[in-house]
Amino acid sequence: MTPRLSGVIGWPVGHSRSPALHGHWLARHGIAGAYVALPVQPHHLEQALRALPVLGFAGCNVTVPHKEAAFRLVDHVDRAAARLGAVNTILVRPDGTLEGRNTDGEGFLKHLQASAPGWTPADRPVLVLGAGGAARAIVGALADNGAPEIRVANRTDARAENLARDFGAPVLAWPWAGRDAGLAGCGLVVNTTQLGMDGYPPLELALDGLPSDGVVYDIVYAPLETELLADARRRGLVAVDGLGMLLHQARAGFAAWFGVEPAVDDALRCAVLASAPP
Ligand SMILES: NC(=O)c1ccc[n+]([C@@H]2O[C@H](COP(=O)([O-])OP(=O)(O)OC[C@H]3O[C@@H](n4cnc5c(N)ncnc54)[C@H](OP(=O)(O)O)[C@@H]3O)[C@@H](O)[C@H]2O)c1
Repeated sequence: MTPRLSGVIGWPVGHSRSPALHGHWLARHGIAGAYVALPVQPHHLEQALRALPVLGFAGCNVTVPHKEAAFRLVDHVDRAAARLGAVNTILVRPDGTLEGRNTDGEGFLKHLQASAPGWTPADRPVLVLGAGGAARAIVGALADNGAPEIRVANRTDARAENLARDFGAPVLAWPWAGRDAGLAGCGLVVNTTQLGMDGYPPLELALDGLPSDGVVYDIVYAPLETELLADARRRGLVAVDGLGMLLHQARAGFAAWFGVEPAVDDALRCAVLASAPP
């Protein structure tokens, strides 16, 4: 049987956890296949993508800095990718054309539902901090699932206003300086900024304003326990870290390339954490 091939295209790509993640699933399911890191410089991206069918690849993941360029190069896109203008997963169709998808929003939501089973999207307003690519994916997933009000606060207020204009109701731009007050009545707050990440200052947010059954989700996963999450846990709030989003967003690609629906569980989390660079 011909081995199935996939990989992750990025530049640089050595830091990516995806080979460990997919490698764990390949081994667990005994699949004759491989998932490799593919360092590709921006000026070679088109050549690399067009080579996928020729080389027998079933598809690939796309990471920084190629997500937007890949969106422009693929032949077909799904609704999530079209709305975000960015692709993180590519499938080679039987006719050799390339289909681009974006699974970040779906990964975010699946992990939230698994980690906070009591939370339902249509329940109460949500505060989203940040207005970059990840915020757009998350706002889209929340809006599609019936969130009644999504308050978006971003350091550069104009970027939050653009995002709110692009999506329309139920998305509102909220002033960054007033983010503490934006927690009032919310069932969920999500940090999608780089604040709290290794090398960045912590996110300053006074969680007193969040209802006591509110959920705090930080999509940063390096470190796994940000100051925001530690503060949430001290207050008895449900705290959700960013690693699960990364794991869940990978499922759709693996299923399409290798034909098996993989599970996100503790063994996968441990394998991916063990692969982390020192
Ligand atoms: N868990 C996962 O699976 C997953 C997936 C995707 C991304 N992420 C993480 O999410 C974060 C954002 O990714 P992205 O792709 O959305 O990046 P991006 O498009 O570059 O957006 C970065 C966001 O962070 C804000 N920001 C950066 N530095 C800031 C500071 N000093 N103070 C306040 N805000 C600041 C930016 O605000 P301005 O607009 O004002 O610059 C912007 O809203 C990264 O930490 C990334 O690792 C996690």
